Amino acid sequence: MADWILVHLVACDQLRPSSRKPREVTNMNVDPRNLLAVPKLYQLFANLVAGPAARRRVADEFLKVKPGDRVLDVGCGPGVMRPLLPDVIYCGVDVSSKYISAARAHQGDRDRFIVRAVTAQTSFDDLGKFDLVMANALVHHLDDAETSSLFQAAKAVLNSGGRVVTLDNVFIPEQSTIARWIIKLDRGKYVRTKAEYVALASQQFQNVHVTVLQDLLRIPYTHIIMECW
Ligand SMILES: C[S@@+](CC[C@H](N)C(=O)[O-])C[C@H]1O[C@@H](n2cnc3c(N)ncnc32)[C@H](O)[C@@H]1O
Repeated sequence: MADWILVHLVACDQLRPSSRKPREVTNMNVDPRNLLAVPKLYQLFANLVAGPAARRRVADEFLKVKPGDRVLDVGCGPGVMRPLLPDVIYCGVDVSSKYISAARAHQGDRDRFIVRAVTAQTSFDDLGKFDLVMANALVHHLDDAETSSLFQAAKAVLNSGGRVVTLDNVFIPEQSTIARWIIKLDRGKYVRTKAEYVALASQQFQNVHVTVLQDLLRIPYTHIIMECW
């Protein structure tokens, strides 16, 4: 999400002339977006681009948890959504052990943070049942087989009346050129069109309610939120 700012800050720094000493040889093949793998940098840039108000809006309008709900947060990262979900029984999973370690530093008594990758054979059966399975900014990192497996595994652990909610960047015909350009810089290799996201969710869910937002971030950007049940 915040990847593009980092690209430009780092790029500018590499181009700035120094009068004090000759520039050291730098590896120009290093992708500055990889710096976002550092939990504190991820949180800093997520806060810069999105800010607490955007996360609060997602929580209030789309996640809609109630006290005591059981929540599975897939691709939880360093746990930035956890503070928005008070009084729930929370389990966060992520492929990154660095993000999970950072998240554990702030975990509450009833929280679990687990290193786990979504693969083409994902299962969450060992984690219990949930009222909400959320995947915030994850699906655009997953190929079609992994995404189908995510929806299947999520459906299998939903309590009666439970929902899956995903949020991702999306390509739509009416978005601005700058929004499209920024989205193309994302680390995720599988940013899709609205129809492509909906087709994947619809393989598992009869009901897929779609919202497209163009005003969630402080920069031109387009999000798709899918509520599935
Ligand atoms: C853009 S970050 C979103 C993090 C967090 N959900 C948030 O809202 O800030 C995407 C996250 O998905 C995780 N991720 C990417 N591929 C994954 C996979 N196959 N299985 C589990 N997590 C994955 C990354 O490690 C990263 O934490």
